[in-house]
Amino acid sequence: MTCGAYVIRIFSWVRVAIIPTAYLCRVISKNIIRCMKITVVGAGAVGATCADNIIRKELCSELVLVDIKEGFAEGKALDLTQTTSLLGFDTKVTGSTNDYSKTAGSDVCVITSGIPRKPGMTREELIGTNAKIVEGVAKSLLEHSPNTILVVISNPMDTMTYLTLKATGLPKERVIGMGGILDSSRFKTYLQQALGCSQHDLQATVVGGHGDTTMIPLTRLATLQGVPVADLLDEETLKKVAADTMVGGATLTKLLGTSAWYAPGAAGAALVESIVRDEKKVFPCCVALEGEYGQQDICLGVPVVIGKKGWERIVDLKLDEAEMAAFNKSAEAVRSMNSVLNEATA
Ligand SMILES: NC(=O)c1ccc[n+]([C@@H]2O[C@H](COP(=O)([O-])OP(=O)(O)OC[C@H]3O[C@@H](n4cnc5c(N)ncnc54)[C@H](O)[C@@H]3O)[C@@H](O)[C@H]2O)c1
Repeated sequence: MTCGAYVIRIFSWVRVAIIPTAYLCRVISKNIIRCMKITVVGAGAVGATCADNIIRKELCSELVLVDIKEGFAEGKALDLTQTTSLLGFDTKVTGSTNDYSKTAGSDVCVITSGIPRKPGMTREELIGTNAKIVEGVAKSLLEHSPNTILVVISNPMDTMTYLTLKATGLPKERVIGMGGILDSSRFKTYLQQALGCSQHDLQATVVGGHGDTTMIPLTRLATLQGVPVADLLDEETLKKVAADTMVGGATLTKLLGTSAWYAPGAAGAALVESIVRDEKKVFPCCVALEGEYGQQDICLGVPVVIGKKGWERIVDLKLDEAEMAAFNKSAEAVRSMNSVLNEATA
């Protein structure tokens, strides 16, 4: 047999072995996800976009959309279902007007219900309306899905996450606020524009609160394929990137007349994906701190490992003195927002 024939024979043996293995892996991973049920409450801009991303990624066999507005969730669910043959997924999507029995047995529930901000508003100004909505929604979800993991997106997100944790009494690992993932993707967008690079080559994290003045883009720790971006950009540019990141949401609210939805919805789905696929991805999320980063009795954005149990471990970034001071200041602002909760939910 010639050398070429040997190579061809070896190649075909490898193919015979690889194809069934790959198929088996796909079947197994699909089956794990097939038994998942996910609920998204709030069928508005962020909720519907999050649901859209979840079904495109085939993260569950059944997705339930809930909204308080009569027929709205049912309409969005039907519209999404009509993309099935076009996009090639087969998740069952249903909608419900405030009937939580339809959400029973959900593995993950995403809370996006509430009002978004209008131009000129801060996220904090939403607290009065959204606190009552989020508390009621979280309790209704748990009545029918006692083992679920709750992902909180409604603003002001840090306070809504704290409220959800306190009002439900859930183990801390099962309450996750989504804000830092979005803020970090905005940070990467502005870094990409300054560096002319691919966002995929960037590592960049935003910690602290999810507010225009409370978030902390960690410029010192951001890297382009391991090279600190501080070595590639001058100080003034780096400061502008950080400032643009912090008002990233407000910039969009001014342009759109309401808050953004594509990146927030995608960020929510990325978080859900790491849970249902047990990916153990490290994402900056709003979680309960019990001494970590020097804080107690607060939910704030820090990097955490996300897997099937919810958030599984906090990653210690070893912040320097200035970053730690900014983190403490951010915590103070969020804590004072939390202190008005009793008034807001009375
Ligand atoms: N955490 C983040 O990164 C982030 C990003 C963007 C937006 N947000 C927040 O997400 C929330 C939703 O924003 P949006 O743009 O989708 O708003 P939207 O107005 O488009 O949708 C909100 C939906 O919630 C529904 N709703 C209100 N009360 C409800 C209740 N009790 N039960 C069920 N549904 C209810 C409304 O009918 C509406 O359809 C806002 O609070 C916004 O500030 C957070």
